[in-house]
Amino acid sequence: MTIRTALVTGAMGGLGTAICQAFAKDGYKVVAAYHPELDKPQEWLAEMQAAGFKDFFIAAGDVSDFESAKAMVAEAESKAGEIDILVNNAGITRDRFFAKLDRSQWDAVLSTNLNSVFNVTQPVSTKMAARGWGRIINISSVNGVRGQAGQTNYSAAKAGILGFTKALAQELVTKGVTVNAIAPGYIATKMVMAIRDDIRNGIVDGIPMKRFGKPEEIGALCSYLSSELAGYMTGATLNINGGLHMC
Ligand code: CAA
Ligand code: NAP
Repeated sequence: MTIRTALVTGAMGGLGTAICQAFAKDGYKVVAAYHPELDKPQEWLAEMQAAGFKDFFIAAGDVSDFESAKAMVAEAESKAGEIDILVNNAGITRDRFFAKLDRSQWDAVLSTNLNSVFNVTQPVSTKMAARGWGRIINISSVNGVRGQAGQTNYSAAKAGILGFTKALAQELVTKGVTVNAIAPGYIATKMVMAIRDDIRNGIVDGIPMKRFGKPEEIGALCSYLSSELAGYMTGATLNINGGLHMC
């Protein structure tokens, strides 16, 4: 049986950790990519080992920077072999109403959440196509699908990911490479916990299931999308949001 190699960006964050763990349970080699300025990748690794996940590789790179992302992919390949599964998961928020939004907050969110998808996917996808198998999973957001006040930057980047996903899916459809997007609703990670308490409580009240999603619920979807049986699904947006937005 082929042992697949998966590269996950933003791997040491809330969703990234759950996605790495789901892939490890599937028996894949997992490369956890992290921002070079992250304090303690070794601590994350030790935590994973303590939880029974012993075989993660790590690779450093700033996904918003083309050269840094390329070097990160090269480091991942040198440690774990060619990448079969890529999850573009790294992301940030800089929430502010548009009238007050600084150009730097626009640029930071666009370059980290959208340009990153170019930077990391390009060095990986061509090789997947040449080998005739690949899975690319892009983490968008419910707020890229429906828009969110206070997030013009983030909604634009996450909507951009959806267009990118459909266009690249068409280019790779005959090459054995699928390209799909996941649009999570509000999931309990530090990104959501950073929202002001009163606003966050209002958000959870507005979710029909009356709870935030769990990171492992996104991990499970990545597991499915990277499987052999998901080979007929491409160009799709999978909405997973507790009923917050149905489309
Ligand atoms: N639409 C229109 N007006 C709104 C509004 C909305 N949705 N929300 C608030 N307002 C109004 C308020 O009523 C208030 O009006 P008054 O001054 O007349 O009372 C005014 O705007 C100021 O509201 P805030 O106190 O909220 O303003 P702020 O400057 O302190 O905060 C903000 C602005 C940072 C954008 C804040 O509203 C916020 O955090 N909103 C949540 C945005 C959000 O959902 N972010 C998701 C982050 S997690 C994530 O992104 C993951 C994912 O993919 C799901
Ligand atoms: P998180 O815990 O903050 O994780 C985000 C990760 O991305 C962090 O590990 C962060 O590293 C990394 N990162 C940020 N900028 C980077 C850069 N320039 N280069 C490399 N890595 C970088 O947030 P999360 O909730 O898990 O979010 C993961 C993804 O899901 C994001 O794309 C987010 O937009 C999306 N999403 C989240 C939700 C939600 O409700 N949580 C919903 C929909 C979509 P540092 O910590 O070192 O900065």
